[in-house]
Amino acid sequence: MDHFLYRDGALYAEDVPVAEIAAAVGTPFYVYSTATLLRHFRLFDEALEGTEHLVCYAMKAASNQAILTTLAQAGAGMDVVSMGEYLRARAAGVPGEKIVFSGVGKTAEEIRCALDGGIRQFNVESEPEMEVLSAIAQEMGKVAPITIRVNPDVDARTHAKIATGKSENKFGIPIARARAVYARAAALPGLEVVGIDVHIGSQLTELEPFELAYAKVAELTEQLRADGHDIRRLDLGGGLGIPYARSNAAPPLPTDYGNLIKRVLGHLGCEIEIEPGRLIAGNAGLLVSKVIYVKEGEGRDFLIVDAAMNDLIRPAMYEAHHDIVPVIEPAPGVEEQPYDIVGPVCESGDTFARQRGMPALAAGDLVAFRSAGAYGAVMSSEYNSRPLIPEVMVKGDQFAVIRRRPTFDEMINRDTIPEWL
Ligand code: LLP
Repeated sequence: MDHFLYRDGALYAEDVPVAEIAAAVGTPFYVYSTATLLRHFRLFDEALEGTEHLVCYAMKAASNQAILTTLAQAGAGMDVVSMGEYLRARAAGVPGEKIVFSGVGKTAEEIRCALDGGIRQFNVESEPEMEVLSAIAQEMGKVAPITIRVNPDVDARTHAKIATGKSENKFGIPIARARAVYARAAALPGLEVVGIDVHIGSQLTELEPFELAYAKVAELTEQLRADGHDIRRLDLGGGLGIPYARSNAAPPLPTDYGNLIKRVLGHLGCEIEIEPGRLIAGNAGLLVSKVIYVKEGEGRDFLIVDAAMNDLIRPAMYEAHHDIVPVIEPAPGVEEQPYDIVGPVCESGDTFARQRGMPALAAGDLVAFRSAGAYGAVMSSEYNSRPLIPEVMVKGDQFAVIRRRPTFDEMINRDTIPEWL
C-alpha cells in the first residue's frame, strides 16, 4: 500500500496534487511519500515485535538525507556499504551503534572512518578483510565488533544480477568453511565476534529461499556456539520483494517474513537484525515525467517522455517492470492503446516499456512511474549531460525539494580544463 492515489480525477502524493509539484519544480523529478516510508519501516519493526531486534534500513536503495532523517527519527538503524553511506547515516543523526557496515571491498580508509566514528558491527566478507580490519583496530587501540557474512549457496530465485547467495557470487564466505574462519577471527586480537550475517539477494518474491538460508544459519549458530563463540546477533540481510505490477500476485508481507524468522531462529535467543531497502523505499517514490512527443512509428507508437535511462536505469539494466500511469486519471472504461514508452537518450536500451497499454496521451501530459523510490535516484547519472533530476518529499499537504536540480553551469563547471589547453 502507498499514498499515491487518484482523487477527483488527479494523482496525488499524500495530500498534494502531483501536477502542482510538477508546476513548481519542472519535470522530470522524483517524489517520495513520508507516510509510505514510515509505514513500511514500521511494518518490519512490528513484524519482529517480541524479539530483540534492529531494522537497519539498507540506504543504498534511496539515500537522500531527508529520507534518512525521516527513518532515523523513527528509530531505524542503517546498513551502509561505503564511507559515503556511513557519513550520510551519521549526518542524518544515526548513532554509530545503530550502523552496520556491509560490502566485499571495504578499504582501510573506510574501516578507519567507521572505527573512529563508532560502529555497531562490520559484516566481514572475506579472510583478507578480517586480517586488515584486525590490524587497523589494533593500531587504533580498538576492538572491532564483527559478524562474518556466510554464503549459504541458496538460489534466491530472483534476477541474476541481484542474486547474492549462490556459491558463484562474490559475496560472503562459503558456509562450509565458516567454522575455520570463525576460529581464525577469534584468534585475531583486534576483533570481537558478535554474530553471523547472511544476505541472499534482492526482490525475492517467495519466502522459501529465506527459509533455506536461515535454517542453515540456525544450524551454524549452534555449531559455532559449541566451538565456543558468543553468537548473540544474527543479521539476516534484506531482500523482501515488492509488487511492481499491480496485475501480479503480491509478494509475502513483512509479517509473514517476521513469523518465518521467529519460527526458524527464535529458539536461539539471538538479537535479530534485518536490512530491508527496497520494501521501505520502493513504493514510497514516483518518478514523474512529461510526454515530449507522440511519434507514429512503423506499426507502433512511441511515447517519448522527458525522463530517460540515466534517471531510472532499472528497465534497461534488469528488464524491470514499472507501472506507468497518467497523472490525470483515465475516465472509467476509456480505451487503451499500446505505446513503446522511451526516453530521449541515444540508445535503444533507453526504453521503459514496450507495447504498454495506456489511454491516448498527448505532448505535455504528465505520467508517473510507480515503485521508483528504491534504486531510482541513487542509480541515476548525468549520461547525455542530462543534469541529475530533483527529489521532492511530501508530508501530508506539504512538499519540499530535498535535492534541487543543478544548473547547467554547475554541471559544466565541475570539470576543469588542464593548463595546457
Ligand atoms: N543488505 C545487503 C548486504 C545488500 O546487498 C542489499 C541489496 C540489501 C541489504 C537490501 O536489499 P533489498 O531489501 O533492497 O532487496 N539495484 C538493484 C538492487 C540491488 C540490491 C543490492 N543489495 C535493483 O534496482 O533491483
